[in-house]
Amino acid sequence: MKVEAVRGMTDILPEEAVLWQYVEAEIREAVAIYGYREIRTPIVERAELFARGVGETTDIVHKEMYVFPDKKGQMLALRPEATASVVRAYIEHGLYAKGGVAKLYYLGPMFRYEKPQKGRKRQFHQYGVEALGSLDPALDAEVIDLAWYIMERLGLRREGLFLRLNSIGCPEDRPRFREALREYFLPHREELCPDCKRRLEENPLRILDCKVPTCREVAAGAPRSLDHLCSGCREHFERLLGYLDALGLAHELDPKLVRGLDYYTRTVFELASRDLGAQDALLGGGRYDGLAEALGGPPTPGVGFAGGLERLILVLGEREPPDKCFRLITGPTVYLLPVGEGEVTEALRILAQLRRAGIPADMDYAGRSLRKRLQVASQLGARYALFFGEEERARGAAKVRDLGTGHEEYVPLGELVSYLRGRSRRR
Ligand code: HAM
Repeated sequence: MKVEAVRGMTDILPEEAVLWQYVEAEIREAVAIYGYREIRTPIVERAELFARGVGETTDIVHKEMYVFPDKKGQMLALRPEATASVVRAYIEHGLYAKGGVAKLYYLGPMFRYEKPQKGRKRQFHQYGVEALGSLDPALDAEVIDLAWYIMERLGLRREGLFLRLNSIGCPEDRPRFREALREYFLPHREELCPDCKRRLEENPLRILDCKVPTCREVAAGAPRSLDHLCSGCREHFERLLGYLDALGLAHELDPKLVRGLDYYTRTVFELASRDLGAQDALLGGGRYDGLAEALGGPPTPGVGFAGGLERLILVLGEREPPDKCFRLITGPTVYLLPVGEGEVTEALRILAQLRRAGIPADMDYAGRSLRKRLQVASQLGARYALFFGEEERARGAAKVRDLGTGHEEYVPLGELVSYLRGRSRRR
């Protein structure tokens, strides 16, 4: 019986990986320009980190997290997201001691046991940024501006995208808002799905997030968090809106946007694509001013976002890959054709020499005929075929054929690297 990949966990094959590498390189460059530095945290964390950080009643933790005991019975989890991990590392390594704002970014696989569909996988990849150490709404604006900048760099049209924005207030505002939601939903209890009936008791905010049509209908008339903000949160939000206007960043206020993670305070946002259908969020984020404290660290405000690479690739994949992609395809420049078995040792030596000089070079290991090997060289896009046989050995040279022009000449082995480099410069 064939062993297949686990459902919802996908192989990225070489042709596709080119686009991934391009997108990842663009993201790394974009975030570096904004002053973010990479942090790599483990894929496996204590399950408790996400229960406390993301929230026990969220779908992500309650239903979707991969949890398992290790050999000593300690409960571990495959990370469903990285914000809690980054904040844990920030506390654990005392990054706050440096003062100022810590600007961190990450790229890597996350795991959620969701129903796989277009743009939704069980192992998926996120890129994300976290800025820790400031309450200033200018930092929220910077983070949102960075999200737009990444899209611009990837050539996604602004008209095809939209930013949903909301403020869900601070922990002081939350009980009032929750109460208002509970009061509103209670008379509609029977119309809600079984999950939302539970949410009504545990955390009515989550009902606003439910995708079940009947719940959405009921939620349409629900109270808005924006009407339950304290003066501090209102001012924060208004200043943010002012900055976004000044930066010319369009946004749509979305009172239903609460996001599926419990750590958020004040600003929440999602950047969505009009081309994606149901799973339209290219990225999502917001402020989480209480998270560091909830994880046992010093009170440290933070703001950030994360986006799914699969969804970006989906949106980008429908268009021609940019020229930049092709630079990353490393077909050989030189294809070696040892003529006769005895010449393989020397061919290996020549290959090693060219490769160490940074010249992509390859040869056939499948025992194909000389004619077939020449065909392969052309198919791979090689610029030169390099013959090495008895005659070449006698001359201490290799015969180099330019596969474009057909021009051939003998080049002494010691001069191969400079010859090939010189010719590529002249082209
Ligand atoms: P999130 O909204 O759960 O937020 O995920 C962020 C993004 O990851 C989504 O907008 C989507 O593009 C992608 N994504 C999520 N689940 C899947 C999936 N199953 N398959 C494919 N893509 C998916 C967070 O994870 C927060 N940590 C974001 C954040 C950072 N907030 C503050 N800082």
